[in-house]
Amino acid sequence: MSVTALIGAQWGDEGKGHIADQLAAQSAIVARYNGGDNAGHTITIGRTLVRTHLIPAGAFHQHVINVLGPGMVINLKSLAREVDDLNSHGANLTPDRLKLDSAAHLLLPGHIALDGADEAQLGADAIGTTRRGIGPAYTDKMARIGVRAGAMTDSHLFSDLVRGHVERVNVRLTRDYGRSPLDPEAIATEYVELARRFTPHLEDTTSLIHATLERGEQVLAEGAQGTLLDIDHGTYPYVTSSSTITGGVLTGLGVGPKHVKRVVGVAKAFCSRVGAGPFPTELHGDEALRLRGTGANPWDEYGSTTGRPRRTGWLDLVALKYAARINGLTELVVTKLDVLTGINPIPVCIAYSCCEAPLTNFPTNLTTLTCCEPIYSELPGWEQDISGVRRIEDLPLAARVYLLQIETFTGVKVSHVSVGPDRSQIFEV
Ligand code: IMP
Repeated sequence: MSVTALIGAQWGDEGKGHIADQLAAQSAIVARYNGGDNAGHTITIGRTLVRTHLIPAGAFHQHVINVLGPGMVINLKSLAREVDDLNSHGANLTPDRLKLDSAAHLLLPGHIALDGADEAQLGADAIGTTRRGIGPAYTDKMARIGVRAGAMTDSHLFSDLVRGHVERVNVRLTRDYGRSPLDPEAIATEYVELARRFTPHLEDTTSLIHATLERGEQVLAEGAQGTLLDIDHGTYPYVTSSSTITGGVLTGLGVGPKHVKRVVGVAKAFCSRVGAGPFPTELHGDEALRLRGTGANPWDEYGSTTGRPRRTGWLDLVALKYAARINGLTELVVTKLDVLTGINPIPVCIAYSCCEAPLTNFPTNLTTLTCCEPIYSELPGWEQDISGVRRIEDLPLAARVYLLQIETFTGVKVSHVSVGPDRSQIFEV
């Protein structure tokens, strides 16, 4: 069988959770390939809301093996908290059901301290990171001084590596930032304990995935963040530090392109972004608030990792077409269509004007992108409540025209639409 890639097609927070849940049910493995605990999903278990940051969408599907792949950076403290929390709701994340790849990098306390210090230093130019240490962890990986999960098997070596990490970070914290040093001994002791706990979860997950594919079973590669936050193809430097796109599935899990048969992009019916950086269709004031919601329910546009209000704006079809191209999307899932109910007409961005010149391709150059003004096409809105709709033919004509415009512009079929926060409020087209 094959790998299905599930990719955020905008700036993250596209509402990947429901479709991830559906696809997980059909998979033997659900594997995260990028990022760390900067991601956030909200899962509803009965009436309880559970938040996940590291653990893939297969947590509550008992037949699924959940993989934290080689491309990730893993904070063991967060992982311990999350496993305990999910297990208390019945997830049963034993070493058989949760696998950490030995080549995945560990995100250690010094990375978190540096993320905070770097951001504070940048002042008004800060990226607006989640301050989870993601950038510094990937920096160490690329500088070839990171600590990989496989090192957990040897307590002495592991303790030395963690101590070495803290001592290295302390030089920067004290010398460059005038901050207090971290305690290498206390951190090494704490991490040796965490390593004992998670060593039984270690696995060569690339071999596991290939064996699963050879048995004819399905693998879901679950993306975190979104295309426009990709380190290479996003709005650099206002990006995360990993490969969020389909290419990241290949390097982050160790599978070849021939295995990835289905690439599902998830896009909201409008746009949102957390943190700083260009956002051509951004709205302000009441219009922004209308799309964001007040925060009274978990579906509103507030970060599930940091709680920050998300910036909101109209659907940017230029950016979505770019995401379709660089990911090789084979289908699109459009989420939160219900949020547009009552807005008439609905503007969608179909081109940019940059220094008076029209631009139809998404520019990743920061200077160009910053001066882009959106050119809108106005589509008719609808008034009917669509939250109960479960078939495409029951949507108002204007809502179907909206979806058709997305398909025509991006060249990608819309396969699913979501019309509300409940698991049942997503339907196949
Ligand atoms: P970092 O990944 O914490 O380094 O943050 C870099 C940028 O990515 C910031 O703009 C964050 O707000 C954004 N970001 C990171 N993770 C997510 C996510 O899961 N959803 C949306 N934005 C994210």
